Amino acid sequence: MEPFRYHVYACQQQKAEGVPSCPARGSLKMIDALRGEIGRKGMTNEVQLTTCGSLGLCERGPNLVVYPDGVWYSGVTPDDVAEIVDSHFRKGVPVERLVNHDADALAAEVRLNRDRYLASVRAKDAAGALPEELEQSIRGYQESRIILTAIELDLFTAAGDGATEQEIASRCGTDVRATRLLLDALVALDLLAKRDGRWRTTPVSRRYLAAGGQNDARAGLMHQVGLWQRWDTLTDCVRIGKPLKSRGKADDKWTRAFVAAMHRNATERAPHVVRAVGTDGVRRMLDVGGGSGAYSIAFAQASELLECEVLDLEPVLAIANDHVLAARLSDRIKLRAGDMLSDPLGTGYDLIFVSAICHMLGDDENIQLVRRCRDALAPGGRLVIADFILDETRTSPRLAAVFSVNMLVGTENGRSYTEQEYRSWITNAGLAASRPVRIPGPASLMIGTRPA
Ligand SMILES: C[S@@+](CC[C@H](N)C(=O)[O-])C[C@H]1O[C@@H](n2cnc3c(N)ncnc32)[C@H](O)[C@@H]1O
Ligand code: FES
Repeated sequence: MEPFRYHVYACQQQKAEGVPSCPARGSLKMIDALRGEIGRKGMTNEVQLTTCGSLGLCERGPNLVVYPDGVWYSGVTPDDVAEIVDSHFRKGVPVERLVNHDADALAAEVRLNRDRYLASVRAKDAAGALPEELEQSIRGYQESRIILTAIELDLFTAAGDGATEQEIASRCGTDVRATRLLLDALVALDLLAKRDGRWRTTPVSRRYLAAGGQNDARAGLMHQVGLWQRWDTLTDCVRIGKPLKSRGKADDKWTRAFVAAMHRNATERAPHVVRAVGTDGVRRMLDVGGGSGAYSIAFAQASELLECEVLDLEPVLAIANDHVLAARLSDRIKLRAGDMLSDPLGTGYDLIFVSAICHMLGDDENIQLVRRCRDALAPGGRLVIADFILDETRTSPRLAAVFSVNMLVGTENGRSYTEQEYRSWITNAGLAASRPVRIPGPASLMIGTRPA
């Protein structure tokens, strides 16, 4: 049985710097081009493209293998993909000039490369060299810092469609030599392209990291720039068990970046949350620590009968106000400044939404918050908590486990919690707990219903 007419394996085996490999010879761009061409020609249901590890012809990449024909292509460039799709996949005629014909020579080359590879792995192991993945993880901060600095300096906007190092340095107010080093590193990271002494944005950096980009994410990414300072205190923080007083302070710049980051995530996830929770019977909603108001806006847009209150701190509500005004929902979304941990929450809500809040708080604070939410619910009303949910080992999902450390450097008692912990807070408050509801993205929903 063949669910597709063709199954194409394309090598994207990353190897150490200087070692021959398909990616080093441009396979990633070729794979992108091939995927795009298959899509444009409407053949995604006939041709399954799967990226794979080394095919053993590393010096001659980029390599592709096409089954069921068993055709091995080598040295494929983005310029070749239109011909392969049209001639081979559409008409059934392989592109001969790129095909390996000598099966014995092919097998010998594959075996030779495999033996060489295994010998190098054994030699590295015998020498006690760090495994590559471990080294990569340890050095990962360098590439991260390069990108964050480029965002902080707005270097992608300065490079735009092409600029010299002097022009970019002058626009960013930076040193020319230092700027050049950063620009070249960004080329190595595929976030800039360089030609004739000029640097310009790539499709990815143009879209996400430069002014006017289709999905300009700079404002929200400045939150990551701010978090860097906090993560820098991690070692001391683990020693003393608390965030350091000197950690990045939440000034106006911090708040703007933080809310922008929350807004970006929330806007993306809100449609899934609204679909999963539904608005049937919901007239009054409370959005506890509602941030930019993105979830309230999505709920209010889903039902004209729904009225919502966003409870948050004053400086955050000033930003939420702009979003609510832009959505023309000021008549149904009210902004209430207050402290969710001590101020009265109100009463009679059909839905109380608590998104990305519990991870900031300690166990006792969450127990109290869930109880106070129960009291604020109308009979039959629902408390919906959206957050990372760890499994019982507390080590997975990876993002949730790492996020706990983000809370360690930034909050007094926050961390990610397990399903069982959420369940116990909800049931001990006298609410009926649902199973976690999975939605696309890293967070899940825990729902507690107040008995009617
Ligand atoms: C991680 S954000 C989540 C925002 C929003 N719920 C979302 O999911 O996009 C946490 C929010 O809680 C607010 N917050 C923190 N402490 C608070 C408090 N004591 N009272 C009210 N709001 C608070 C913050 O200002 C921020 O908007
Ligand atoms: S890296 Fe692609 S064939 Fe070896």
